[in-house]
Amino acid sequence: FDLRDTKGQQKEIEDKIGAAAKILRDGGLVGIPTETVYGLGANALDGTAVKRIFEAKGRPQDNPLIIHVTGAQWLPRYCADVPPLAYVLARKFWPGPLTMILKRRPIIPDETTAGLDTVAVRCPNHPVTLAIIREAGIPIAAPSANLSGRPSCTTAQDVLEDMDGRISGVVDGGPCAVGVESTILDLTCDPPRLLRPGGLPLEDLERLIGKIDVDKAVNGALAEGEKPKAPGMKYRHYAPKAPVTVITGAPEKSAQEILRRVGPTSGVICFEEFADLFREQEVHTLGPVGDKLVQAQRVFDALRTFDTSDVTEIFAQCPDNRGLGLAIGNRLKKAAGFHVVEADSERVVLGLT
Ligand code: TXA
Ligand code: MG
Repeated sequence: FDLRDTKGQQKEIEDKIGAAAKILRDGGLVGIPTETVYGLGANALDGTAVKRIFEAKGRPQDNPLIIHVTGAQWLPRYCADVPPLAYVLARKFWPGPLTMILKRRPIIPDETTAGLDTVAVRCPNHPVTLAIIREAGIPIAAPSANLSGRPSCTTAQDVLEDMDGRISGVVDGGPCAVGVESTILDLTCDPPRLLRPGGLPLEDLERLIGKIDVDKAVNGALAEGEKPKAPGMKYRHYAPKAPVTVITGAPEKSAQEILRRVGPTSGVICFEEFADLFREQEVHTLGPVGDKLVQAQRVFDALRTFDTSDVTEIFAQCPDNRGLGLAIGNRLKKAAGFHVVEADSERVVLGLT
């Protein structure tokens, strides 16, 4: 399904959208583009089809899926007791990288929600996928299209790398514009709770609706055995083969701290401005310090590239928590199993090692 080949050829694009919609209606799996990351789609109302997603990804059964819809008008079909706030948020941020947790209706099968009495809903901002959902006339359950545990896919090529032979096809909608997954907001509690930082900054949400609690899992602060509200947040994730250490703090300081720690077999993920410091190492840059849009687009690619590398350890610089920085930092820290070193600490300031 290479849509880039058929640019301008409306008929062919429509045929491909129709073909993808048919596969989905018939219970098959299709990789679909969204503005955040590629999804692995199936009919959200068909428990058997949804089970195939879990098999293809090797995903743990207790990790529920997001259903993708074309707009807020679909909410009452699949969700119960939809609060007015959901419509306020949808009007402002849909289509876009916001997932809302709402009470579910029985029409959504247990396979999709992993037995929870809530369901995650989002309207993706990608014209092709919106057309596919509209054509199929059903909500599409879609986790990120990576094999479970691997970094998410931001190109159709990434999806093929992980899923070739496991799914019917992938619709190529170009590289993902946002690059990190959607922001997940739980609307079944008061105040609403941020379960996963993502492509829509927390500040934008708070500006519209006021105070939001941040779930402990976002900062990796769960106690041993404690369950996060978004089951997926408990898994070590996005992890390359080599262990990752995230270095936080002002970029100049974190770069110096990494420089102190690296050896010839280390890998480095750093801001563009510091790449030249690491001439002996394999380096993948996140983009400029000041450009979090680019950092979000690149973070998974950097982690993915290290998967096929022989480095023995990886050090990553990390943006501050403002704006998209919260999501970018969260993905890096998850890849590191929350192994984080603060470069601004006294120890570093004193130059001790
Ligand atoms: O941007 C995205 O959200 C992408 C694209 C494809 O839409 N999808 C995505 O799906 O990231 P996935 O499955 O990789 O992550 C979904 C997260 C998981 O952490 C899961 O535990 C959580 O959403 N989740 C799903 N349903 C939930 C529910 N009812 N309550 C709490 N968390 C839920
Ligand atoms: Mg995922």
